Amino acid sequence: MSGYQGPMRVLSGIQPSGGMHLGNYLGAIRKFAELQHQYDCNFCVVDMHAITVWQDPEKLREQTFHIAASYIASGVDPEKATVFHQSGVRAHAELAWVFNCVARLGWLDRMTQFKDKAGKNSERASVGLYTYPVLQAADILVYKATHVPVGEDQKQHLELSRDIAGKFNHDYNAADFFPLPEPLIKGQFGDAGARIMSLRDGAAKMSKSDPSENACIFLADDADKIAKKIKKAKSDPEALPSEAAGLEGRPEAANLVGIYAALSGKSAAEVLSEFGGQGFGAFKPALAELVVEKIAPIGAELRRLEADPAFLQSVLEKGAERAAAIADPVVREVKEIVGFLV
Ligand code: TYM
Repeated sequence: MSGYQGPMRVLSGIQPSGGMHLGNYLGAIRKFAELQHQYDCNFCVVDMHAITVWQDPEKLREQTFHIAASYIASGVDPEKATVFHQSGVRAHAELAWVFNCVARLGWLDRMTQFKDKAGKNSERASVGLYTYPVLQAADILVYKATHVPVGEDQKQHLELSRDIAGKFNHDYNAADFFPLPEPLIKGQFGDAGARIMSLRDGAAKMSKSDPSENACIFLADDADKIAKKIKKAKSDPEALPSEAAGLEGRPEAANLVGIYAALSGKSAAEVLSEFGGQGFGAFKPALAELVVEKIAPIGAELRRLEADPAFLQSVLEKGAERAAAIADPVVREVKEIVGFLV
């Protein structure tokens, strides 16, 4: 049991490795906007994580602004929450090195995201991709963050962060120096949205790196594009069931109903009591209308913000200063604890 007594603090991050999509929005950013009213919140654009796989330098800068703009367009207020870029706060890298020496190879060997991303040719993956979750633990713990809003796919990385925090506290006899951070997977609408699947394959996660443009709804998509993608989304020939149990073995149907539920704030059971017995010919237009209603205004605001990179740069720079004011003293304490000269 952790006896950590420090303040509750939220940290999360998103990689600037592609366009922000509906999975990122429902699994993560929507919760950011909810949490900023309750907690001290810190939202990071994790550019150092992004370069664990190749990124074109010019595009990386653009995408860093895109993620910052997406946070703000989705309701994060940079005056309330700290919005910053990871590479702007050097404490992340400093703590990550110490954590590289705390984490065990066996722990990293179990990480499924590395296996998925590295594929068969893992010998050719970067060392950074392998130690990615160690840097993630540093992102969180350098702020002594207690709560981390993420989608379901980040559960294993959060467990590793807890293991690293626990081992550091134990090895250095520094009881409760670091909190054991909790993932926040559910939002105000329960766990709807915690795992959004590709529109082309109900067994694959919706992902920035999907080669098919039609697999993802991006926050930047306009109403027309959103409606087209939903029309083309893979489904099946059956009518929708009247109860959630009837979605078993129908991953594409379950995903589309899940998206409707997450955006409407209803449960899957409520959605099915409305649409049960109807085919996708009727359900898809209703879904398209809902997605357009909720996402298109965010897209419009996103485009407005992206047209002003000087504003976004100033948000990130001010945010990085505020973040460093929390993180630098923590790194200093860590240096003392491990026996570095300070
Ligand atoms: P990234 O950029 O891959 O994903 C960002 C956030 O979006 C969530 N997410 C999804 N949620 C539901 N359905 C999906 N299909 C979907 N795809 C992505 C992710 O769970 C995540 O919350 N490793 C992190 C980045 C990170 C981080 C951190 C997060 C770096 N340091 C510290 C929290 C705290 C990631 O996967 O980013």
